[in-house]
Amino acid sequence: MLAKIEELLQEIDTLKVANADEIEALRIKYLSKKGIITALMADFRNVPAEQKKEVGMRINELKNKAQERIAALKEVFETQDNGSNDFDLTRTPYPIGLGTRHPLSIVKNEIIDIFHRLGFSIADGPEIEDDWHVFSAMNFAEDHPARDMQDTFFVESNPEHVTKNIILRTHTSSVQSRVMEATQPPIRIICPGRVYRNEAISYRAHAFFHQVEALYIDRNVSFTDLKQVLLLFAKEMFGADTQIRLRPSYFPFTEPSAEMDISCNICGGKGCPFCKGTGWVEILGCGMVDPNVLELNGIDSKTYSGYALGMGIERIANLKYRVNDLRLFSENDTRFLHEFDAAN
Ligand code: DAH
Repeated sequence: MLAKIEELLQEIDTLKVANADEIEALRIKYLSKKGIITALMADFRNVPAEQKKEVGMRINELKNKAQERIAALKEVFETQDNGSNDFDLTRTPYPIGLGTRHPLSIVKNEIIDIFHRLGFSIADGPEIEDDWHVFSAMNFAEDHPARDMQDTFFVESNPEHVTKNIILRTHTSSVQSRVMEATQPPIRIICPGRVYRNEAISYRAHAFFHQVEALYIDRNVSFTDLKQVLLLFAKEMFGADTQIRLRPSYFPFTEPSAEMDISCNICGGKGCPFCKGTGWVEILGCGMVDPNVLELNGIDSKTYSGYALGMGIERIANLKYRVNDLRLFSENDTRFLHEFDAAN
């Protein structure tokens, strides 16, 4: 790949054009969605880990060079003497590089798109929440450890008087409660958003991250409905060959509860270091909404039932793009962000 990049770097230096159409053709050839450089970027994921850094830098160099060269060629054509001496003093003297979408936004939008096609709409709630919506209304017992200082950030206007009532939400499940108290079923929403936990920041934990919550409540909603949606989601997100398995689990707000694994999309389920040899990787929590939660939020649990699920966007992004350090997602290093150009 490096040899190919070198070759392209030289090629770009010597590009010549005879008219504006040829410039556009060059842009399409190198920089468009189907262009040579975009293809190289897509191929980047296959580069062995020890070469990633160097190859990544060279690809970026190539892309910048192509952008600059094409902009320079344009400049030449557009400023060629056309008989008048008018200068456009408002024109930018340098090409403006376009930004790229953040990998978490790319993944979030994909998730939204899949659920949108299933009829889910987007709901929203505050990041600074009260204890009721994050915990009590979601059926967390008064002494549940998640309410602990170890996990939760408390927001205090008066440090002398710590009420522990206003907190940074620790999960997007709080939006379930917000929606239920405001609407009667049928409810079919997803809620993407940022959540906060009092964790020491390291390559695998962060004090904030992102989740998507889904909630469906209607008459006769069953576990089978949930399973079908999970299977469809996994196949849409990770490819048609993806398999799922559900393991029994516990969450205060669902009963029964499960965690979903997908067949490891790196080794195809054969077993590799990423899935610790098991062939499966965990991606989300889910279950049937506990009748207590329905009642606590003003919905008749005798008439209605529902399912819920929640997943971490960073986790899904990791599986898709193999980012092995969570901190990269929030540092906004443009070298990292530009690696996702091709996915945009
Ligand atoms: N709120 C859970 C968490 O932050 C994720 C979750 C699990 C959400 C199961 C759900 C669910 O809606 O049904 O870990």
